[in-house]
Amino acid sequence: MLMGPPGSGKGTQSARLAGIYSVPHVSTGDTLRAAVKAKTPLGRQVAETLASGGLVSDALITDLVRERLAAPDMARGCILDGFPRTAAQAETLDTMIDPAELIVLLLAASDEDIIHRLASRRICDACGITQSIQDDTDYPDGCPYCGGNLVRRDDDHPDIVRRRLATYAAFATPVIDFYKGRKTFHVVDGLQSAEWVTAALCGHIDADVTLMRSRTARF
Ligand code: AP5
Ligand code: MG
Repeated sequence: MLMGPPGSGKGTQSARLAGIYSVPHVSTGDTLRAAVKAKTPLGRQVAETLASGGLVSDALITDLVRERLAAPDMARGCILDGFPRTAAQAETLDTMIDPAELIVLLLAASDEDIIHRLASRRICDACGITQSIQDDTDYPDGCPYCGGNLVRRDDDHPDIVRRRLATYAAFATPVIDFYKGRKTFHVVDGLQSAEWVTAALCGHIDADVTLMRSRTARF
């Protein structure tokens, strides 16, 4: 599970880890945004909350994750991105999976760096790839992968980013307190290069998985 403030690199790193370990990437934010875009009943229910930078209800999000974690492609695990983000969600996750098999990776990043990063983030509206731009003249032909339009995420406007940071500050500490006594809780500097962060995350995952396997082998 990857946690961290908005813009700390959860999505970037989750996509990389999902590729490296061949497991699904489960992003609650991506799921909710897709529902908003498709104007489904769920999308209509959460649109205002996402636009305001607040959190959707624990009940709604845990139902969503419970259903996703029950899917057959979860047999080898997954990369959870953006869930849990309240203490109540963390407690519920422990009832959905074996807590001894959960690795918690916290990406640390300062508010100033995040504000700068999110101001330059653009998402391809066709393939969903995330790009960082220097200025708006970058990528005149659109997405370098598929030519789609590179657009700003609706909640990346500076006022909303500040509200998302405030929301994170209000809810993250109890989640960190919930996990920090566990041997499989790790903090990684999210401000290093993406390659450095991936290597650090893989180092923790590989060490924890080796330990888990050696414990299982003893019984
Ligand atoms: P969500 O989509 O999860 O948004 P978030 O937590 O605000 O995080 P972001 O997706 O903005 O950032 P990220 O950490 O993924 O960073 P990224 O890799 O893109 O949630 C959206 C909303 O959904 C919430 O506000 C809430 O309303 C709702 N929601 C979701 N889950 C919920 C839950 N469990 N409970 C209740 N509500 C929920 O990187 C950011 C930028 O930095 C990119 O441009 C990237 O290219 C760049 N970058 C990344 N890593 C590096 C690096 N190492 N060096 C330089 N640049 C980098
Ligand atoms: Mg993300």
